[in-house]
Amino acid sequence: MSRSVVVILLAAMAIIFQVTDGSSSDRHHRDATYETVPPWPFPNHPRYSVQRGGALPWSLDQNSPENPCDSVSCPRGRECAVTDTGATECICLQKCPKKHHLVCGTDGVLYSSHCELHRKACLMDKAVGVDNSFRCLMPPVYKQFEESLKYEDTKETQTTPFSSNKPDISYYPSSENPFAISSLESTVMTTQQDITDAVTTTPVYCTQQEYEIMKDNLLLLNHARLGTNNNGGEGSHGRDLLVSLMFSHFDENNSGLLEAEELKRVGAREQLSRLSHRCSLVDLLRYEDSDGNNRLDINEFYAAFSKLYSVSVVTLEKSLEINHITARVRDNVQIRCDITGSPAPPIVWRRHGVDLSTLGDEDIRVFSDGSLYLMKLQLHHSGNYTCQAQRNHEVVQTHVVSVHTLPQVRVTPRLQSKKPGDEAKLECHATGEPFPKVEWLKNDAPIALSRLDDKYSIRGESSVLKISQINYADTGAYMCQASGLAGVSRDISSLVVREDAVSDGIQEEKRFYVFHEKGVSVYDPNNCRLHHQIQGTDIVPGTQDYVCGEKGVVCNWGRAIAVSTRYIYVTQPKKDRALVISKEQMVVVDVVATDRYPVELSYIPSLDQVWISCWRSEDDHGARTLQVIRDASQKKSHHTVHPEPIDGQFDLVKDFFPPSIQEFGDQFRFGYVSHVNQRGLYKMNLQAMRYVKAVDLAPYNCVPRTVQYSSLYGLVIMECEEPVTRRPTGQIVLDYLTDIVLTHKASLHGTPNMSPDSRHLVTVQHDLHGVTILVQETTPTGLRFSFDVKTSLNISDVTFHPSSNGHGFDLFATAADKDDLLYLNLVSGKVDIVTGLGEAMDPVEVQWGSPNRPITSAGVFGTYLVSPAKGAVFVINGETRTVNCEIGNLSKPLLNVWLY
Ligand SMILES: *[C@@H]1O[C@H](CO)[C@@H](O)[C@H](O)[C@H]1NC(C)=O
Ligand SMILES: *[C@@H]1O[C@H](CO)[C@@H](O)[C@H](O)[C@H]1NC(C)=O
Ligand SMILES: *[C@@H]1O[C@H](CO)[C@@H](O)[C@H](O)[C@H]1NC(C)=O
Ligand SMILES: *[C@@H]1O[C@H](CO)[C@@H](O)[C@H](O)[C@H]1NC(C)=O
Repeated sequence: MSRSVVVILLAAMAIIFQVTDGSSSDRHHRDATYETVPPWPFPNHPRYSVQRGGALPWSLDQNSPENPCDSVSCPRGRECAVTDTGATECICLQKCPKKHHLVCGTDGVLYSSHCELHRKACLMDKAVGVDNSFRCLMPPVYKQFEESLKYEDTKETQTTPFSSNKPDISYYPSSENPFAISSLESTVMTTQQDITDAVTTTPVYCTQQEYEIMKDNLLLLNHARLGTNNNGGEGSHGRDLLVSLMFSHFDENNSGLLEAEELKRVGAREQLSRLSHRCSLVDLLRYEDSDGNNRLDINEFYAAFSKLYSVSVVTLEKSLEINHITARVRDNVQIRCDITGSPAPPIVWRRHGVDLSTLGDEDIRVFSDGSLYLMKLQLHHSGNYTCQAQRNHEVVQTHVVSVHTLPQVRVTPRLQSKKPGDEAKLECHATGEPFPKVEWLKNDAPIALSRLDDKYSIRGESSVLKISQINYADTGAYMCQASGLAGVSRDISSLVVREDAVSDGIQEEKRFYVFHEKGVSVYDPNNCRLHHQIQGTDIVPGTQDYVCGEKGVVCNWGRAIAVSTRYIYVTQPKKDRALVISKEQMVVVDVVATDRYPVELSYIPSLDQVWISCWRSEDDHGARTLQVIRDASQKKSHHTVHPEPIDGQFDLVKDFFPPSIQEFGDQFRFGYVSHVNQRGLYKMNLQAMRYVKAVDLAPYNCVPRTVQYSSLYGLVIMECEEPVTRRPTGQIVLDYLTDIVLTHKASLHGTPNMSPDSRHLVTVQHDLHGVTILVQETTPTGLRFSFDVKTSLNISDVTFHPSSNGHGFDLFATAADKDDLLYLNLVSGKVDIVTGLGEAMDPVEVQWGSPNRPITSAGVFGTYLVSPAKGAVFVINGETRTVNCEIGNLSKPLLNVWLY
């Protein structure tokens, strides 16, 4: 029974070999030593000449019956050609004879023959030699690393943590705690390596796929070793002979059976662990022992080698080379690779050249059938994914994934009543990728365009609808509708027309909190009246603590942020705590103890976490600790926890870069952390609060100073500085999923700011002559320069404010030493100046790294912006671009937060 199976397998093997080993009459030529072929020209090249046949120009020349190339010999990989002038030159071989004799290049690439190796070396103008140690067949992890280097060598990117001159690295986490980082003194490289080794979440046992690769490697290695004097064999017979030679070589006691002991010994003696880092020869018994007697006989052994990936011819239909995939946010998609081969080749999936199976991202998985799974899609998953056979890089399929969002639309006000003759204004804000079509409907029918001039006016891409000369017939439901590829979304604004309407035309505005030395004040921006006050001398309800201190003690605030619609969190660096203020009740409801000097705060809505970064002293010396408050918006008592420490120490954090909150509500699961005295960056899983990866930015001499995120196309933008001198070293754009550096603009300095809709990046660059505001747009292929604006204003702070003529955002920028406010329309480039913002706070009075003239916007549907100045707060109307009011008699008002 088992015998007949073996016969069939052998027959199948023969067919495969004949098909793939095309011109098997070629004699294999073997390089005995490790050699390199320097780029042309070089002396003493071996004799090797190729002539072109057929009608060549020189054969038409009656005076030169002889082919001038006859007397020319060219180095390997080249052939002789005659130039227009009749001279000869050695050019790169146009093609090589079709034969398979796989060789490793010293560049780590597997070539189909020696000729191919030399030809490619010539074409690349690089020195590539034959590597007889077959390193390119070695463990896949190492190979992938080499490929990623090769792939990126134009950009000098190296996010993979293995150093290219250290091929003997170990692939296993070195300690019990995989995240333990060896020692503080260890170099950046080692530290990163430890982390990433541990994070490569491949199984520790020998998988079928790796097993097949190991066998393949074994055969190739033995072919190189034993197969040379095998002149008579060709095609399958050659391989048969090779397999039988291997068998007798392994069968040390000539028993006709291979046992675990023998396989172990051979494996150890010949260091065959190089072939695969998880599979060994003993696994042959696990997979091939079909009769279950714990031994392999010659037939079982033959069967094991009946499939050979390295000779698999892979194909891809031309029409399938580029595959467009459209999916919606939160979809799960499975992408099949259409590359086929016989036998089916193992597939590797990449994004920007990075093998996705090494990412360790639970939402991106490569399955053993060669398909790619992208789970819980987010906008940042958009982009190109390629698949190719592990052993054949010529055939590549590109899958262009576009992620769409369901359009979102909101209107304001939801309900208004007007008198006949009044005018009504309805606003609509839409988001979506791709940006949806937005229109207004009344009682389900599109508003008649012909009536636009007199009755209705619509502006700013339907973001505003105005109804004039209102009469009773205008009562109704006005619907703003956004339609996109992924669906339609609507929101309704109702208008009631009544004689007795008490409308005053003023829409309800959000209120804002101002934090100053005396306490906290809440204002209404329309009339600038005080709405509520928390005194610094108040007692926090339920405790015996003062909000700030006894009479005469001034408040000292770090940062304040809104946490969902319920709370405001504010740090008190000198009191080592954060206060939680209920927006509704306007009282302090919780006091959260922290490490010393808590300053920066950030909120991650999808995880409901507040991250705090604590300084080590009143000045930021660059060594901080991180703390996290979980369930931050929940009604409960809150406390902090530390994320994973670094080498048992919590205070090695230089900076924490949380994902910024954007309109799309993209769920970024990772943030970045920089460490004291290290170039580069660590990626942190925010939910698990653990490090997952190291990103090496040393080639760019980069320690990030600022990091911004774009939901669209998953870009991470970094402002870089040199670690010791703090000299600016340019702007880097990373791919969020793979951490590959996409671009590095060494001369682009300044602080990047991403607009809430992810569409514009604004970089504020200070130099000797003033400030340049550089605007870039996000595109599927990265950032594209839009325009820049130069100003003599010394910009202190910037904020984005909803555009008054569209669904996007404009920029407002304050000046450090003037009472001017700069407005910039990010689409048209139009600039305006708002004056009269009073005297700015003296920079020396400002603590905790805040700008001396901050500014914040009320956000979507908010008309106003607020900017604190010396002893006062200015409320600016963003639509009319005028100062609405000044709220005076405030002592050092530096922080403000809008109520949502
Ligand atoms: C050698 O051969 C015999 C069978 O003839 C076998 O029982 C023995 O265990 C073999 N293996 C080794 C490692 O000696
Ligand atoms: C994705 O692939 C398509 C097709 O090859 C190409 O046109 C496009 O530029 C690629 N996009 C990126 C971001 O590389
Ligand atoms: C701009 O203002 C900052 C203070 O906010 C100050 O340190 C800096 O020197 C100013 N730059 C110029 C060119 O005036
Ligand atoms: C300024 O504020 C203090 C309390 O903060 C108050 O006592 C004083 O009367 C105020 N002055 C003016 C002019 O409003």
